[in-house]
Amino acid sequence: MFIVLLVLLLQFFGYVNGEDELHNLKECDIYHGKWVYDDSYPLYNSSQCFHLNMHFDCQQNGRPDQQYLKYRWKPFACDLPRFSGKDLLERMRNKRITFIGDSISLNQWQSFICMLHSHHPHAAFTRDNDHGFTQFTFLNHNVSVGFSWNALLVEKESTSYGMVLNLGSISDFDANMWRHSDVLIFNSWLWWLHSGSDRPWDFIVDGDDLHKDMDRLVAYEKALSTWSHWVQNNIDFDKTLVFFRGDSPRHPNASEWGNNDGKQCSEEREPIEVREVNEYRELKKPAGEGIVERIVRKMRKPVRLLDITRLSELRKDGHPGAYASSHHQGMDCSHWCVPGVPDTWNHLFYAELLRAYV
Ligand SMILES: *[C@@H]1O[C@H](CO)[C@@H](O)[C@H](O)[C@H]1NC(C)=O
Ligand SMILES: *[C@@H]1O[C@H](CO)[C@@H](O)[C@H](O)[C@H]1NC(C)=O
Ligand SMILES: *[C@@H]1O[C@H](CO)[C@@H](O)[C@H](O)[C@H]1NC(C)=O
Repeated sequence: MFIVLLVLLLQFFGYVNGEDELHNLKECDIYHGKWVYDDSYPLYNSSQCFHLNMHFDCQQNGRPDQQYLKYRWKPFACDLPRFSGKDLLERMRNKRITFIGDSISLNQWQSFICMLHSHHPHAAFTRDNDHGFTQFTFLNHNVSVGFSWNALLVEKESTSYGMVLNLGSISDFDANMWRHSDVLIFNSWLWWLHSGSDRPWDFIVDGDDLHKDMDRLVAYEKALSTWSHWVQNNIDFDKTLVFFRGDSPRHPNASEWGNNDGKQCSEEREPIEVREVNEYRELKKPAGEGIVERIVRKMRKPVRLLDITRLSELRKDGHPGAYASSHHQGMDCSHWCVPGVPDTWNHLFYAELLRAYV
């Protein structure tokens, strides 16, 4: 009897605390804060995460240091609720979450699956593949978490004279998938910068004009504008939550943070330290981020910006560097180790879902 009472009391106070916490969370700028060392991190071990792409599994690929695994994001104005895969699956019962973008979105999606899976290592799931769309479904909760490879968001068509990118149109396949999700989380950025043989198009259609190439930031803004109009006119905002993840920064040049040029991001062991709040606010952003902010701000419907850009700018230590494969070929200062920085993006995503569903 006494124990039952105690449990009820604890639950009651837990509930009250939970409400307070959520209230604080609603008011809080969760993207403004600092990285703190936390010995209880990381949230999981990559060896529990059997589907993880080797490219992101830095520990498995021989990265010798582990300090980069130990940082937690602490907003100045509140505490993030502890990540709970159990709670997330409960809340998302019968729902579909879809990540849409390039390999950085793949990076985040894989981290998200690891975070859920490590809480339910024996949970039954299925995995489906279709047209570059991969989806995990956690069967007990009927929660699907998909990744759709889509580096540019607008329509790309293979024709007899080459690959044609149409800045003004969204493909039917994508439109159909986007309409049927409950939570969408978009990004597109790095592929707009590729040139030479990596350039992902032969021609660009811009209204009535056909170009071989054009100013990339102008093209990016036009594509995002097409995306934003499509989303406003076709997504049912009563049913679907829409996010745009901020652009992910790269760290290819060590002299930008005062280390020797030529080292890129290799041998970085700790985040960039920010002593002054203003210094943090002035951190340089990828050129696309200003465009993202402008487009999202202009939208009539509430698209949430998962504003991970500046907090990730500090994490020069979070990239695979030479440990993107066990052969240590090349240097990857664009993707992120998993576990690692994308876990924090997903923790913030979780906080955003809590804010949205209460
Ligand atoms: C992850 O688990 C493996 C196997 O159990 C262990 O050898 C390794 O030290 C663990 N890694 C971390 C970072 O704890
Ligand atoms: C599972 O969720 C989907 C939506 O994501 C829904 O269409 C379907 O009916 C659900 N299945 C069951 C058995 O509830
Ligand atoms: C790295 O940055 C420094 C200073 O910002 C610049 O002078 C240098 O040219 C850059 N190196 C490369 C390879 O871009």
